[in-house]
Amino acid sequence: MRRIRSYVRREGRLTPAQRRALTELWPRYGLAADRPLAMERIFPARRPVILEIGFGNGEGLVQLAREYPQFNYLGIEVHRPGVGRLLLMLEREGLTNVRVFCADAVDILQSVLPERSLRRINIFFPDPWPKKRHHKRRLIQPDFVRLLAAKLENPGLLHLATDWPDYAEHMQQVLAGFAEFDRIDHQNVVPPRPPSKYERRGRRLGHPVVDLVYRKR
Ligand SMILES: C[S@@+](CC[C@H](N)C(=O)[O-])C[C@H]1O[C@@H](n2cnc3c(N)ncnc32)[C@H](O)[C@@H]1O
Repeated sequence: MRRIRSYVRREGRLTPAQRRALTELWPRYGLAADRPLAMERIFPARRPVILEIGFGNGEGLVQLAREYPQFNYLGIEVHRPGVGRLLLMLEREGLTNVRVFCADAVDILQSVLPERSLRRINIFFPDPWPKKRHHKRRLIQPDFVRLLAAKLENPGLLHLATDWPDYAEHMQQVLAGFAEFDRIDHQNVVPPRPPSKYERRGRRLGHPVVDLVYRKR
């Protein structure tokens, strides 16, 4: 069966620096997408792990990793220029608590990440797919949330953000179908969410930004 993808591959526009990063820095920070991951082997120190899905240009992920070194961070992104940009920032800042997948998050969740291995999952401004006929491409769907739930520790947090009211409603409906998730006040969540490129764009366009945080029991 052909899987419905939550993204469109937009290649090209790799800068020379990003291209270099994807070859030279990948062995240092990149992770294989085709085999189960031994979490205890990939970071220099054992700490709770936070996963960010669809990190875009990686700015927010780097900011969190720099400001909260008490956590290890995993990032997943399909867009290669964004991955290249993140690798360059990791090298420049000498961060050792971040590792990266350049792959579809569905594959990584299904076949690579161990069960109950993540303290938190962040999904900030996933593609909204605003047209009704495209809603099936939205990342947040029951099957996907089932995968997220299996990978979270007990307790663990799922942090979602969107600037599309219709998607925010859809997210809440999907999450309401999961007895193991309780919504909590996002103001109390530490580390907080750094502002992102998509968020800034949304705010410029007058979109209301909604944060939804769920605790897995
Ligand atoms: C709208 S952008 C938001 C980027 C970033 N979080 C921000 O707030 O600036 C959504 C990102 O999710 C990525 N993405 C979409 N589906 C994905 C998937 N299945 N696996 C990994 N990344 C995905 C896209 O490539 C894109 O960079």
